[in-house]
Amino acid sequence: MNEQIREVLSRKLTLENAELENRTVILRVDLNSPVKNKKPLMSKRIIEHSKTIKKLSDLGAKVVVLSHQGRPGREDFISLKEHAKLIEKILGKEVRFCTWDGPFLKKIEELGPGEIILMENTRFLPFESSEENPEKHAAQPLIKELAKRANLFVLDALSVAHRKHASVVGFIPLLMSFIGPVLEKELRAISNALEQEEKPIFCLGGAKPEDTLKVAKKVMNKHLAKAILFCGIPGELCIIGSKMKIGPKEKWLKEKGMLELASEYRKLIEVSAYAPVDLAFEENYERVERTLAMFPGKGFSYDIGSYTAEYYASIIRKNPVIMNGTAGMYEKEDFAYGTRKLFEAASKSKHALLGGGDTASAAFSLGFKNEEFSYVSLSGKAFLKAVACEPLAALDAILTFSSNRK
Ligand code: 3PG
Repeated sequence: MNEQIREVLSRKLTLENAELENRTVILRVDLNSPVKNKKPLMSKRIIEHSKTIKKLSDLGAKVVVLSHQGRPGREDFISLKEHAKLIEKILGKEVRFCTWDGPFLKKIEELGPGEIILMENTRFLPFESSEENPEKHAAQPLIKELAKRANLFVLDALSVAHRKHASVVGFIPLLMSFIGPVLEKELRAISNALEQEEKPIFCLGGAKPEDTLKVAKKVMNKHLAKAILFCGIPGELCIIGSKMKIGPKEKWLKEKGMLELASEYRKLIEVSAYAPVDLAFEENYERVERTLAMFPGKGFSYDIGSYTAEYYASIIRKNPVIMNGTAGMYEKEDFAYGTRKLFEAASKSKHALLGGGDTASAAFSLGFKNEEFSYVSLSGKAFLKAVACEPLAALDAILTFSSNRK
């Protein structure tokens, strides 16, 4: 049970409760998408948030859209100019684009009902990404000026709801704030998964073992799961923590600073978590499966073995499941077996919630469709926090300031 989500959903914070016609709405979405040759690729986030933009515009709101893209210093840290074109294509309607150094306040004042402006990448603003409380961000002159020209704020992205960034929490003390339909859908999906008659199985893999460890500990301490199934790098660390040598991958894990997590993982499998009983290694360019008795492998391990895959799949098929991270390096055809098997099982389980950008891309690149699962989240870290029933900063701010206004 995630009390924070339950509370957000029980209050009148959805768009049905907001007066929108002829009102200026600041809409915070997450258009952050994969980038190729400095251009954003069309993504599920862009498609889903475009539906919200359309809804607001159709209801006669004057829509000011805010989003970030990438992180400073990374390849994907680009302007949102091309995103505006992609949204325009979806909506079949003009989406104006404004940079932060032009007369954007005037342009916002001149907006007519149904008209849309997409502002430049919020992370181009120097103060955007500092983690501050909502009141401190609300005191920023630019945030105050924007808020003066708007009637309400709508947060539509779970994927940023854990961030105390200016565009995420800064308008909440200043404007009536609501949750948008995309955020609402994500919250309902998480709440459904956690409130199934039976506790869910958590299947946790991927290549971010530090984040996974934090989530797993919280899930366990709060007794949120019937069991945790570890695969991917967390699964390998469970095996190493049990004093087994897996092979040359250990050196790589050490260089990445991951090996030291092995003992922490061992503590978890001593309680109610499962570790793989076999792994698939790349030896002489081929997939070679080894059970623990046949360890160490001669090459890198890139997948769980077929005993583990079959065993985990049999558990997943019979239970509600929350999945994050892949079982191995699914991008290599020989090592996609475990990940494919677990997704197949999830698609047949009582309730399957998938989260994390990599997890969703893996499912789609292996040919699975959204409809085969109960829900596929658009979020990564915030998703993990929410399924571990950790509070999210932006939801906290919305709850606090909406009660203050009553
Ligand atoms: C994401 O892709 O997870 C979101 O856009 C948040 O991005 P961030 O981790 O850079 O804040």
